[in-house]
Amino acid sequence: MAKSRQHSEGSPRQPEGAASSYQAGVFGSLRSFVALMALVALAALLGVSARSIARAQGRTEAGAQSASAAQKADNAPTGNAKNGKTVYTADGCYECHGREAQGGAGTGPKLGPAPIPYAAFAYQVRSPRDQMPPYTSKVLSDAELADIYAFVQAAPQPPKVDSIPQLK
Ligand code: HEC
Repeated sequence: MAKSRQHSEGSPRQPEGAASSYQAGVFGSLRSFVALMALVALAALLGVSARSIARAQGRTEAGAQSASAAQKADNAPTGNAKNGKTVYTADGCYECHGREAQGGAGTGPKLGPAPIPYAAFAYQVRSPRDQMPPYTSKVLSDAELADIYAFVQAAPQPPKVDSIPQLK
């Protein structure tokens, strides 16, 4: 009896000391999870994409690393955006990433108008990191990939946050 009372000190209404501290733990982590989700939703509302956060973090990291990433972006081959749209549509990229590369809910991320550096873009298409199917150079040539890159770079800009009345 004395032992159980000692355990339940923090919450006298709970009959079982062990159970109450377990509950406190579960609800405590649930609460911080909910708080985290709320933050994520808020960030999404404000238009702060995970990528821009990553980019901001990258800026504070080793300068050499971001310098080489910038270099890769500059080395992007010049592609034909018009043909890129044709290939993008024919190869089904649009099914997951949207017709204008704007991304789809739960199917694939937004790709343009500011795509990831070309090297990373090409690497993802050849050896996707997760759910996306791979496209080898047999089904999608390097030239076609460059054309797709040009197409997503030319994708329309999203509306400015201040132009959306609901966000004012
Ligand atoms: C079946 C759905 C699907 C198709 C089709 C698809 N993708 Fe993806 N794509 C994804 C998903 C899901 C991801 C997220 C990462 C992953 O799953 O590998 C992704 C990620 C990417 C990324 C990385 C984006 C980033 O910001 O990290 C690029 C680039 C990309 N896809 C390009 C393409 C291109 C180009 C095509 C067509 C040749 C294509 N994808 C076809 C689902 C798809």
